[in-house]
Amino acid sequence: MLTVEQVREELAGLVDPTINRTLGDTAGVKDIRIKEDYVSVKVALGQTGSGEQLQLQQEIVTLLKGKGFKTVGLRFEALNDESLKEATKPAILRENSGTTFIAIASGKGGVGKSTVSVNLAVALARAGKKVGLIDADIYGFSVPDMLGIEERPVVRGEKIIPVERFGVKVISMGFFVEDNAPVIWRGPMLGKMLNNFFNDVEWGDLDYLLLDLPPGTGDVALDIHSMLPSCQELIVTTPHATAAFVAARAGAMAIKTNHKVLGIIENMAYFESKVTGEKEYVFGYGGGEKLSEALKSKLLAQIPLGQPYDNEEDFAPSVYRDGHPFEHTYDELAQAVIKQIEG
Ligand SMILES: Nc1ncnc2c1ncn2[C@@H]1O[C@H](COP(=O)(O)OP(=O)(O)OP(=O)(O)O)[C@@H](O)[C@H]1O
Ligand SMILES: [Mg+2]
Repeated sequence: MLTVEQVREELAGLVDPTINRTLGDTAGVKDIRIKEDYVSVKVALGQTGSGEQLQLQQEIVTLLKGKGFKTVGLRFEALNDESLKEATKPAILRENSGTTFIAIASGKGGVGKSTVSVNLAVALARAGKKVGLIDADIYGFSVPDMLGIEERPVVRGEKIIPVERFGVKVISMGFFVEDNAPVIWRGPMLGKMLNNFFNDVEWGDLDYLLLDLPPGTGDVALDIHSMLPSCQELIVTTPHATAAFVAARAGAMAIKTNHKVLGIIENMAYFESKVTGEKEYVFGYGGGEKLSEALKSKLLAQIPLGQPYDNEEDFAPSVYRDGHPFEHTYDELAQAVIKQIEG
């Protein structure tokens, strides 16, 4: 005869038809008692007393009798509000989804958040990880162009299938805007859009979901905090002392919203002359290190100034590849991130 744990496992795969989630997902199997060939089970459902409940009841009885129990006692109750909310969340937002969220933030605009986001995403995919990228800059979206994405996502059933590029699943407001028209929404709609990016997009099973944030310490960071079970943050800064100072505010914001600062990335760190090999600190010096001290977080990468190689056959103007030296820099950053998170 099965043990309590075995009965629980057997039932975990059955679907609660009232909310279309498995009993494993909803933790809906509440109480199991076994006495010789008698088993009694209490099951919590999204909704009780429906015709669908009868059907599940039949399924449970058949399953357990098939495992050798002579008598099966069943009681049903409703899931409490909290469990119901958790159970009906999209899979990716549940505590046990196994996906690590990483938001890429900065204090100021134009420091390279989007460049870092796309290149880190591509590097994590190169390292064999399952990676998604959300362009959370609803107004100033840039990710599709940076990656050279021409196609639009397709809709399957009620879900949007993200566009895949260099092994990264991408979603952006840019996909839903005609001819580069400006987006003129107000705050609350912005939050809704982000919500849709989680709820309506078929992400599948992801190791990492990166979020390219808009500049500054605004609403979006707060929205994201309220939506995600937890989120790590990478702070991008230029090497200038004042930039680092402003970035420190973004870091403080991250900590306030319970996001963990995963590390600092100093972008546009220096210019290295191809001719002499000499480094020139055109945007100042030491900002990354200063910020890392202020936020007690690791300086994970210093990325110099430099443009990706042209690749006319397969245009992706912001991706360092084809053996570009920064490709390796981003591979190292990806390894540092993986180490920080997976140990
Ligand atoms: N290391 C670098 N070397 C040379 N140019 C860079 C580097 N990093 C970023 N850039 C360029 O700087 C500009 C701003 O970068 P990016 O769009 O990534 O910044 P951002 O922080 O996302 O900006 P915004 O705040 O507007 O979202 C872009 O033109 C990008 O190509
Ligand atoms: Mg950007």
